[in-house]
Amino acid sequence: MEDAKEEIRARLAVEDVVGQYIELKRAGRNFKGHSPWGTDRTPSFMVSPDKGIWHDFSSNKGGDIFTFVMEMEGCTFREALEKLAQQAGVELKRYNSDDRKQAAHKQRIRDCLELATKYFQFCLTKNKAVMEYVFYKRNLNKKTVENFRIGYAPKSGRALVDFLKKRGFTAKEMEDAGLVNRFGGDLFKGRMTVPLMDISGNVIGFTGRIIEKDDNSPKYLNTPETILYNKGRHIFGLSQAKDAIRRTDFVVVVEGNMDVISSHQAGVNQAVATAGTAMTEMHLKSFSRLTKDIRLAYDGDEAGVRAAERAISMASKFGIYLSVIDDYHGCKDADELIQKDPKLWQEAVENYQPALEWLLEKYVGKYNLKTEKGFQEYATEAKRLIDQIDSEDVVLREKYERIVADRLGISLEAFRAKKVVQPEKKKLKKANISGDAVMESKVEKNLAALKIHGGVDLGGFEIRDYNVDELGLIFEERYEKWAPADLQKEAMELIKKAESERLDLERKELEDQIRQAEEKGDEKLENELMLKLSKILRRK
Ligand code: UTP
Ligand code: MN
Repeated sequence: MEDAKEEIRARLAVEDVVGQYIELKRAGRNFKGHSPWGTDRTPSFMVSPDKGIWHDFSSNKGGDIFTFVMEMEGCTFREALEKLAQQAGVELKRYNSDDRKQAAHKQRIRDCLELATKYFQFCLTKNKAVMEYVFYKRNLNKKTVENFRIGYAPKSGRALVDFLKKRGFTAKEMEDAGLVNRFGGDLFKGRMTVPLMDISGNVIGFTGRIIEKDDNSPKYLNTPETILYNKGRHIFGLSQAKDAIRRTDFVVVVEGNMDVISSHQAGVNQAVATAGTAMTEMHLKSFSRLTKDIRLAYDGDEAGVRAAERAISMASKFGIYLSVIDDYHGCKDADELIQKDPKLWQEAVENYQPALEWLLEKYVGKYNLKTEKGFQEYATEAKRLIDQIDSEDVVLREKYERIVADRLGISLEAFRAKKVVQPEKKKLKKANISGDAVMESKVEKNLAALKIHGGVDLGGFEIRDYNVDELGLIFEERYEKWAPADLQKEAMELIKKAESERLDLERKELEDQIRQAEEKGDEKLENELMLKLSKILRRK
């Protein structure tokens, strides 16, 4: 596999691979462009053809062609390798036989789902009543129906299964594709079908809506989780929305799949949906690769509020700006609003409010601040919420602390001093996907660049293991013209920052462990950890 990787690297120029996504201009030996993740005014994205690497100074990410494709497509290393291998005309022979079997099986399932999509699309054209539902009741136009590949699953019970069988698919393949029920018949019967697609537009499953009212079966039926479809990861509409999201630098997250479809028809192509309101860290991570401006268009009901709360605590970790769209003009969801007037929805997505601000207002409505009980409860909820803001973000914290303190008529200091436990966080931390969720430290990378390429003595400070070429690019861009004395001074300042960052990280990890110990009721461990924590806090 190393051979294949090197062969691909040799055949593909980094500027060509990157150039498929970003407009690049030559700048001396390098190329420059605008960051696909940041909102840089001057080009901050660099490509070095000599070194075969890229570095983005606004998000501080960098790497080679493989990591670039992973970041842009939100895919795994394997998938990036396969994509680039194809472009380079390199055959990936070095699969072991299990991998090869698995890949072939996956491809069969993709083919099976693709054929099922075409079959459902065909069935739609043959059923007048369903056509009426789709085009008149739901008000979808031809372009939308084609773009989202909407279809119809016949009622008969075995129509799809029989069709796929004739086309050579086995029962096992249909089952693994998530297309059959437990009796081996069609899972989707008498439903309007909407394919679920991956970011590249491959069909990975379906959702089906009943057409006639029926109290016995659920309104929507989805493919179960399969080797292709993972509910917690999937984002409905992303393949159709990704270009608009990148171009306009925001995403609108709505509740239902039909809301996404209507939204696109109404010209708001940035709309996507996660399954229900269950936004996971994996979703946020995928979004954050495309944009940092995430606008939630959930119902203002209890579920919507809870969802926003959960998203807020996850968002600060990814440097995301989370806001809420709440202006439905009395309609129940985006789709209904669009049916009323598409313009209202177009305006609504521009009329967004920071999520924290929105939540704090919701809380004001929930508690009666005139009573002592309501006052206390509001203060507690508000404090809990504000404590979820990253501790580094002093400015933002102060902004909200001030809003709440003013509302309560107390001093900023008093509100800050209020202590609350964080019951919500406990649960959230467990769902962490850690690892690369921790933002790469810019400070540490700069330090490494100073040491390796600037020959600066960092004393006893140990740097992490970074790609030497990437560090070279950072050094050239940032420090090349600096005098040695200035480099040394910069290093001293960065070391202080890096040490404080490391302490923070240690502190966060300890706090996590303490929470876990507390959950398990392991008091001895908890005490030990608390002792460690107090030592760290003293060092700061
Ligand atoms: P809603 O009931 O609000 O549906 O559920 P909706 O999107 O407005 O659907 P229409 O307009 O009546 O067709 C919101 C979302 O919850 C999921 C679906 O993803 C739906 O879009 N859901 C709902 C299910 O998965 N199963 C159900 O039975 C109902
Ligand atoms: Mn609806």
